[in-house]
Amino acid sequence: MKKRVLTGITTTGTPHLGNYVGAIRPAIAASNNPEMLSFYFLADYHALIKCHDPERIHRSTLELAATWLACGLDPNRVVFYRQSDIPEIPELSWILTCMTAKGLMNRAHAYKACVDQNQIEKSKDPDKGITMGLFSYPILMAADILMFRANTVPVGKDQIQHLEMARDIASRFNHHFGELFVLPEAEVDEKCAVLAGLDGRKMSKSYNNTVPLFVPEKKLRKLLMKIKTDSLPPEAPKDPATSSVFEMYCAFADKKEQEAMKNRYLAGIGWGEAKQELFEKINAELEPLRNRYEDLIEQPEKIEDILQQGAKKARQLSQPFLEKIRQAIGIRGLNGS
Ligand code: TRP
Repeated sequence: MKKRVLTGITTTGTPHLGNYVGAIRPAIAASNNPEMLSFYFLADYHALIKCHDPERIHRSTLELAATWLACGLDPNRVVFYRQSDIPEIPELSWILTCMTAKGLMNRAHAYKACVDQNQIEKSKDPDKGITMGLFSYPILMAADILMFRANTVPVGKDQIQHLEMARDIASRFNHHFGELFVLPEAEVDEKCAVLAGLDGRKMSKSYNNTVPLFVPEKKLRKLLMKIKTDSLPPEAPKDPATSSVFEMYCAFADKKEQEAMKNRYLAGIGWGEAKQELFEKINAELEPLRNRYEDLIEQPEKIEDILQQGAKKARQLSQPFLEKIRQAIGIRGLNGS
């Protein structure tokens, strides 16, 4: 049987260059590996945990689906679906909830960070503003993963704990009801680029320093020109190792181009020129994708069709598997079926 890889993308935002370089591009490259079966899904139930704005969740689902397709994800090769189209996932999530120690969830980073924040703000209630969705979110994530018997889950460092929890929950279930679940492994790509944003900190929605992936060409140029730099004069040598302009250039250039650009920095290049080179490099890669994106985003029915076909494929796996799980836990017909 092929190894299975699974990736979930929470539908709360608009994808940016950091998402593209750090997650989308490598994931699509990996999906072309014939020895693997890849699962990609839009985690819209996860989006509900931090976002109660219906328009935003809806729009983000469309944008993310269009982005993945525009960037080259081939829905015929992979299983590409929307979480909420698979009712077996929330059902499994409940079953797992009943096998998960509350103490395990007490230790989840996302929850603990909120409690810490409440303490800093000297709130009387340490759980102020914390929903059960946030508290038990690692269980929903475990259901996403265990449902499709994923072997590996590529994640950022912040998600490693969730994978450990998924393994914990799966082992407990297997021990009690029989070996139904595959224990998933986190795959953390240390080499994988983490892009700096406009202000030099990690590019992230929460810092408001992102460059959206599919803005019009002019806007892309304008944003890249805003990247923070030092104020050395144009002819002064620049240190490529500490420049986020150079770092971003490297995420889009091959080794030879990187070497050549490094020499130009060391010889002295003006920041305006360095940024123009950066813009041209990025734009050359993004232009065909942007054209496809703009085309797709105008055809939501077409994207919906693709997602429905994906859901069909996913449910061919999740329906019989959930049936087995129900049998194992004693939720089954009284007539012997
Ligand atoms: N929690 C993940 C994030 O915030 C998204 C996600 C939901 C996910 N379910 C998943 C990732 C299952 C991997 C596997 O990035």
